[in-house]
Amino acid sequence: MAGEKFLIHGGMRLEGQIAVSGGKNAAVAIIPAALLGSSPSVIENLPDIEDVHVLIEMLRALGARVEFNGSVMRVDPTTVDSYAPPAHLAQRMRASYYLAPVLLGIFMRAEVPMPGGCNIGTRAIDQTIKGMTTLGARVDTLGGVIDVKSDSLLGAEVYLDCPSVGATVNTMLTAVSATGTTIIYNAAKEPHIVDLANFLNSMGARVMGAGTSIIRIRGGRPLHGSNYTIIPDQIETGTLMIAAAATGGDVIITGAIPTHMEALSAKLLEMGVYIREEDDLIHVRSNGRLRAISVKTQGYPGFPTDLQQPMTALLTVSTGSSVVTENIFDSRFKYVSELERMGARIRVIDNTAIIEGVDRLVGTSVHATDLRAGAAMIVAGLLAEGETVISGVAHIDRGYERLDHKLNLLGAMIERVPE
Ligand code: EPU
Repeated sequence: MAGEKFLIHGGMRLEGQIAVSGGKNAAVAIIPAALLGSSPSVIENLPDIEDVHVLIEMLRALGARVEFNGSVMRVDPTTVDSYAPPAHLAQRMRASYYLAPVLLGIFMRAEVPMPGGCNIGTRAIDQTIKGMTTLGARVDTLGGVIDVKSDSLLGAEVYLDCPSVGATVNTMLTAVSATGTTIIYNAAKEPHIVDLANFLNSMGARVMGAGTSIIRIRGGRPLHGSNYTIIPDQIETGTLMIAAAATGGDVIITGAIPTHMEALSAKLLEMGVYIREEDDLIHVRSNGRLRAISVKTQGYPGFPTDLQQPMTALLTVSTGSSVVTENIFDSRFKYVSELERMGARIRVIDNTAIIEGVDRLVGTSVHATDLRAGAAMIVAGLLAEGETVISGVAHIDRGYERLDHKLNLLGAMIERVPE
C-alpha cells in the first residue's frame, strides 16, 4: 500500500479555536463492549481514525451489523456468529485483544490473534491472562493466538501486578459476564477506564469504583444495548496544547475535559505557558520562550506516557536542561534520533532522556516510528525552520483524526502528499 508523507513548512504560529475528537483509547474498548448487548448500541462522538475502521471490519467479520458515519456508530450484535476475528485485522491494532473477553462471554470461547499496535517496548499480556484465568477461563497463547475457553465464569478477586490499562479493561470485560462479584485491585485509573465502566453501566452492568485503584463488578448478563457519548481524546487534547505552546501560539481547544489534562497543564505552566480552563475549553497561549523542566511518565493522574514524545519535541528548544523519564514502556525513545537529525541535543541513558535546549531545530526528512512519535515529529516540524518531511504518516492516522487538517485550520502549513 502506497503511504503518505507530510510536508511541514515550519515557523507558523497557531491561532484560533479547534474542537477535539472523541477518545481513541475509550473508543477501542467501548466498541467491542457493545457486542455484549442483547440489542443494538449507538455510540456517539467517535473519532474517525484508522483503528476505529479496523475494528469495524473486525466486528463485521464476526457477523455484527455496523454502520458508521465518521462520528456516530450503530452496532447490532444480535447477528454475531464467530468467536475468531481474522488475523490480518487483529494484528493491525493493540486493542483487538479486547474482543477476547467479550467473545468469551458470548460463546464461552474465543480465538483472537496476538494484538499488534505501536512498537514502543515490551507489551506483555500476563496480567490479562491472570485476570481471565482467575475468573475461570483457560487461556493458551501457543501459535500466536489467544485461545480462551471456559465452562463457567465466576467472579473473584484479581490483584494486578501493575496498573495495566489493557489488563484492567480485559478483566472488567470478563467480569461483566461472570456470575458473582469481581474486585480488581491495583486497577488502571485512566479516563478511558472510567468511560468503559460508564458505558457498561449504561448497558445495565454494575461496575463501581472505576477511576480508583479498586474496581468492583457485580457480574451477570444479559446487558442491553445503549446510547452513549464517549469522552474527548485526552492525548489529542494534549498534543494540540503542546503544538500551540511550541509555535508561540494562541489556541482555544473546545470539547475537552480540562481535569484530564492537569498533569500536562501543570508542566506547561512551569515552562511559562499561559493556560486558562473553563468548562469544556482550554486556552493555551505562549510567547515561544519556554523553560526546561523535568517530566516523569506515570499512570493517570500522572503525566501520560502517550504525551512523552510530543513533550520531548517541545523541550528540544526550551531554555536549559530537561530530564524526561519514561516509566511505562521500555523502548519509547526510538524517535529521539529523528529529533537529533533536526538539530536537537538529547542523550538517552536507560529510561531517561536528557535534553539540552537549543535555539532552533531545522527541518529535514524524518520518520514517524509509531503513533505518538509521529505527533512528536509534527511538533518538531511546526517549530523548526524550513521544511520537514515526515514519512510513516499511516501511524499518525491510526490514532489522530486528521491532525494535519486540524493544525492547518489553526494556521499551520502541512501538506499531505503520496510517498
Ligand atoms: N504490562 C505488563 N503485563 C501486562 C500488561 C502490561 O507487564 O499484562 C506492562 C507493559 O509491558 C507496559 C506497561 O505494563 O510496560 C503498561 O502497559 P498497559 O497494559 O497499561 O498498556 P496498554 O494497555 O498496552 C494502553 C494504551 C496505550 C498507552 C498505555 C499506557 C490502548 C489501546 N493503548 O496500552 O496507548 O500508552 O495504555 O497508558 O488503550 C497510544 O495511544 O499511543 C498508546 C500506546
